[in-house]
Amino acid sequence: MASDMSSVDPNHVVFFDTTLRDGEQSPGCSMTTQEKLTMAHALEDLGVDIIEAGFAMASEGDFAAISTITQAIRKPRIASLARAKAEDIEMAARAVQFADRSRIHVFLASSDLHLECKLKISRAEALDLTAESVRLARSFVDDVEFSPEDATRSDRDYLVEMVRVAVEAGATTINMPDTVGYMTPDEYGQMFREVRERVPAIDAEGIVLSSHCHDDLGLAAANSLAAISAGARQVECTINGIGERAGNAALEEIAAALYVRADRYGGATCSIKLDQLYPTSQVLGQIITFKPSPNKAIVGANAFAHESGIHQHGMLANPLCYEIMTPSLVGVSHTHLVLGKHSGRAALRHRLEQLGYTLSREELQQTYYRFVAMADRKKNIYDQDLVGILPDQIRERRSEPVSELD
Ligand code: KIV
Ligand code: ZN
Repeated sequence: MASDMSSVDPNHVVFFDTTLRDGEQSPGCSMTTQEKLTMAHALEDLGVDIIEAGFAMASEGDFAAISTITQAIRKPRIASLARAKAEDIEMAARAVQFADRSRIHVFLASSDLHLECKLKISRAEALDLTAESVRLARSFVDDVEFSPEDATRSDRDYLVEMVRVAVEAGATTINMPDTVGYMTPDEYGQMFREVRERVPAIDAEGIVLSSHCHDDLGLAAANSLAAISAGARQVECTINGIGERAGNAALEEIAAALYVRADRYGGATCSIKLDQLYPTSQVLGQIITFKPSPNKAIVGANAFAHESGIHQHGMLANPLCYEIMTPSLVGVSHTHLVLGKHSGRAALRHRLEQLGYTLSREELQQTYYRFVAMADRKKNIYDQDLVGILPDQIRERRSEPVSELD
């Protein structure tokens, strides 16, 4: 049984959001049940297909949050993570029992490093556990995802074997995590092609292949997109890219790339409402202890800000000169021409006109000299600072502003 839209539209990429599970597993990101619920509503509005609401066995709080979310959220499928252990799987099944559509996500390491050092079990034992745990999960729900943890550092023949066992036991989605963010895009894509080729049941039975990338080398979004090109039809990601260590693949980056570079992704479609990307990022930023860094793609404060005179001039002539998408596409209200020491007269005139001050050529020149002197001293220039350097006679001629002072 294939899951969700991918069974209807072969080009549909399922967005599996793990902000509330992998995202929450990072410093400064823990959330109360109420906060998780607020975030789950935002994710539903954003159009994600699946919400991984937590790891039921991890804590009472996680169990409560998953269970609460299953009763309040109707559109996305709700998943709980579980280790390949009966008690975890039973707990996950209880946590998702009230969901209209649920998933149990079972994971078990496939790399020798993890099997030997962490789990202290043999490869053969891990294969038995894979089969038993997937079968047990299938006894509770129709939709079971299996993840060979550390797939990208696993012996390839053994990884293929584990995937085959999971599929035979009834897994409906196979996720191949780059747990430590080790792979490059070409390698990650190649791994998907190879596993698909060597486990023919994946395509024959409509099993969904999934990517799950971490950003230790800054390649998480690129790797996720490479997986899509290689046939993955689910991507696991988080809002603002939060997650273990350097984070998970950022949902907003993958969704925007699929839209802006649709020419590269062979008609891949998704249900993400792009204009909800920025609002959703803001909701998360208010819940956890940090906002995305200013230079974060799509949702950072500078993602649509331009400071240099050459760029500002180009932007005023035609925004396409320096923006590959409009801010409104992703829910940002406007481009921000930031005034700083690299700005030119065109941007200064533009901002002053928005504030209601029209200057002659000569007045602009005089004001520009004062502005540059101030910009050399100050890191941030606010509208009040601009008004402050205007001579009285200009200030008195103010007309109706089109923009409020910031
Ligand atoms: O990174 C990882 O391997 C995980 C698994 C539990 C899917 O988060
Ligand atoms: Zn992870």
